[in-house]
Amino acid sequence: MKRRDFLHATSLTGIAVASGTALLSCENRETEAEASVANAEASFKITPIAIATWNVPDAVGKAWEILSDGGKALDAIEQGCRVEEANAEGQSVGIGGLPDRDGNVTLDACIMNSEGDYGAVVYLQNIKHPISVARKVMEETPHVLMAGKGAEQFAVSLGFEKENLLTEASRKAWEEWKVTSEYKPVINIENHDTIGMLAMDAAGNISGGCTTSGLAYKMAGRVGDSPIIGSGLFIDNEVGGATATGMGEEVLKTVGSFLIVELMRQGMSPQKACEEAIGRIVSKNKERLGDFQVAYIAMNKKGETGSYAIHPGFSVTRATEEEITNTNSKHYISDN
Ligand code: GLY
Repeated sequence: MKRRDFLHATSLTGIAVASGTALLSCENRETEAEASVANAEASFKITPIAIATWNVPDAVGKAWEILSDGGKALDAIEQGCRVEEANAEGQSVGIGGLPDRDGNVTLDACIMNSEGDYGAVVYLQNIKHPISVARKVMEETPHVLMAGKGAEQFAVSLGFEKENLLTEASRKAWEEWKVTSEYKPVINIENHDTIGMLAMDAAGNISGGCTTSGLAYKMAGRVGDSPIIGSGLFIDNEVGGATATGMGEEVLKTVGSFLIVELMRQGMSPQKACEEAIGRIVSKNKERLGDFQVAYIAMNKKGETGSYAIHPGFSVTRATEEEITNTNSKHYISDN
């Protein structure tokens, strides 16, 4: 079904559910019925939308391509995230990601669909597309989270190709880091910028994904928030979704994405919910706020979105029927 027809059908379903009796009583009065459909479409129309952390127009553009063709949010998420994972110049996701202290590129990712299913991989090496392996974990295993060698073997058994993910640029950066071996987070981008993506399709279903190489020069074995349900990502299709970027340890300690979705469930806007989740981190870290960045993005069932960061410099890429934009996010530092 073409997207426009699909939108129409979806809207009509909404109308039928919302005002079934009124609609039936108008069945022979074409003009009135058409007017009523037009009015109802204005208030019920589901508009697909995709948003992602940071300035990633190609990734969000790919997701939009799928959504605008009537595709599912889950496919949009997987395909959108894959664009950044394949970008060797990006040093925070997929191939080209900065390695851990021992020079190993280790990737974390998760994906969540509108049915509440979740799949994730942590500490995955040698496979460029952890988001796709996460989806396979979700769809083809009885588990939700696979780690390290087991996750790699699982991926290879499904035909994923093994490759060296350490690019020359990232190897050089690591060699330079080794001169001091000092870990110092840099605000915006404290050595990484995770891609978190949320999408709503024409059926009104929301899915999300999150993919990262984690903190650069992390201790071997370190895993951050990105693959952990409720922290790096959470979706509840009755309410909306949220995803995080920045210092994973702080996101994990406050289970930020779950918190945002629950706040939206209680009636908060996506914007206010992101601000509250950042506020929880800020209030516990007043003395060391200068040490790290955290940012969230969120979306509700009406397609309303929000974002909030601790520090300036975080931005959100957004694709709608009208355009693909990248805008700077509001942040705690300038608001306080
Ligand atoms: N937010 C990504 C990480 O901390 O690994």
